Amino acid sequence: MKKTFQLTIALCFVAFYFSFTIVAQTDWAVPSKYKNLRNPIINQTDFAEQGKKLYNAHCMSCHGNMGNGNGLKATTLTTPFRSLSAAEVQNQTDGEIYYKIVFGRNEMPNFERRIPNEEERWLIINYIRTLKN
Ligand code: HEC
Repeated sequence: MKKTFQLTIALCFVAFYFSFTIVAQTDWAVPSKYKNLRNPIINQTDFAEQGKKLYNAHCMSCHGNMGNGNGLKATTLTTPFRSLSAAEVQNQTDGEIYYKIVFGRNEMPNFERRIPNEEERWLIINYIRTLKN
């Protein structure tokens, strides 16, 4: 009986911890200055191949080749992250995605210096749009 009680308490803590991390993940506030940034190379699909190359070089190790989080490094990460094809990501503005890529958070690296070229950042964002389910 005592064991069952202890187990219940332990499960409550686990459930609390997970609900907390899910809330933390979705609550990634993007300053309004970035939210409505204009994508300068929108609709230029002929650059898709370049975006894919950049994505594969910088992002695939964690996010996987189709953005679904099955990259080689993914199993070593403790920060939960969504598939980039998920509606929760695709429904964000280009500016929101830009902000998250450039500044990072937790185990999502900061790419300010690693991808200093503005155009390359937007090419990656355009490529992420092609991963939509
Ligand atoms: C070292 C592993 C790693 C690499 C490399 C990486 N990411 Fe991430 N990424 C993460 C993690 C972990 C999160 C979740 C961060 C959080 O919520 O605190 C994340 C979150 C994101 C998000 C936010 C998704 C959401 O749910 O709102 C986007 C967009 C993103 N990454 C795009 C990229 C792009 C584009 C690249 C390459 C330029 C990249 N990431 C490289 C680990 C990585």
